Amino acid sequence: MICLGIESTAHTFGMSVVDDKGNVLSNVKDTYKPKAGWGIIPMDARKHHEEIADSLLKNALEKAGKGEEDIDIISFSQGPGLPPCLYAGMNFSVELAKRLGKPLIGVNHCIAHIEIGRLTTKLKDPVTLYVSGANTQIIAHVSGKYRVFGETQDIGIGNALDKFGREAGLEFPHGPKIEVHAKGGKWIGLPYVVKGMDLSFSGIVTDATRKLKQGESLRDVCFSLQETTFAMVTEVIERALAHTGKNEVLLTGGVAANKRLTGMVDIMCRERGAKSAAVPWEYCMDNAAMIAWTGIVQHKAGHAPLDLEKVEVLPRWRTDDVDVVWI
Ligand code: ATP
Ligand code: FE2
Repeated sequence: MICLGIESTAHTFGMSVVDDKGNVLSNVKDTYKPKAGWGIIPMDARKHHEEIADSLLKNALEKAGKGEEDIDIISFSQGPGLPPCLYAGMNFSVELAKRLGKPLIGVNHCIAHIEIGRLTTKLKDPVTLYVSGANTQIIAHVSGKYRVFGETQDIGIGNALDKFGREAGLEFPHGPKIEVHAKGGKWIGLPYVVKGMDLSFSGIVTDATRKLKQGESLRDVCFSLQETTFAMVTEVIERALAHTGKNEVLLTGGVAANKRLTGMVDIMCRERGAKSAAVPWEYCMDNAAMIAWTGIVQHKAGHAPLDLEKVEVLPRWRTDDVDVVWI
């Protein structure tokens, strides 16, 4: 069985062909880039996605060595995300499903990050840390759903690093630059904000910026920013492990590229006889292979295809709204 997956929750418009053994036959994308100094303008991103869709499909099929007639099912990221971006993906998917007469599966973007992680790392039932620009969540499968055990109460950890990086005059994306500057730094103390199982990062960024302006070295501030924010998420993951009795940790999202973060989580895991793994870079960022693979997983688990006349996007779709019957 072959699934065509379509991702369009934000900047990235992606298409991927995956088979039911988990082989990724193609995984292509094109990313909308806002003009310098601007954030994402949702209607511009939608226009980008609509303009690129046909050529992306052609590219995805060519790279996979398949034709439209080989597609058995189609899946798309139904939410959560920016409504205009989601509509671009949904309209294209519905039209294609009608034209080819194939079933259409709606996939939750956050769950797709976990499923491609389980596929590529071989972890079976992990506690997941999803750390991207906008998201910071600690998620685990309990009683038939992926439950969010802890999350940020304000900005995501990636956006926190980017915000500090901007204040410090570093190049974008700032996370990798901060990782380099932090090498050999010393601890100068920053607020540590864990509230129950939730986290908050914006006050830490404010304090780190102030300390830099007061004359602390960039190296020491970058070091302390990483140590503080990464220790906070590691603490919450450890409590989620203890509570659920699980012994695996999956790291995904752009910030999971950071070696200090993965190293810190790894030390915590080894100390309690658990193991951790980060999702490979290509599948860590927003991508369509995760949507295609999750489409297959849901289809095999018996999820009913969407009614093509009634399908809608779900911009605020929660991770724990989906019945996860395949674990
Ligand atoms: P979302 O998926 O939540 O909509 P996004 O598309 O911005 O957000 P990703 O593309 O997954 O998120 O990740 C981008 C983030 O990852 C940026 O904030 C960037 O600074 C951060 N990042 C990338 N590499 C590193 C690194 N080595 N260390 C720390 N942060 C990093
Ligand atoms: Fe994402």
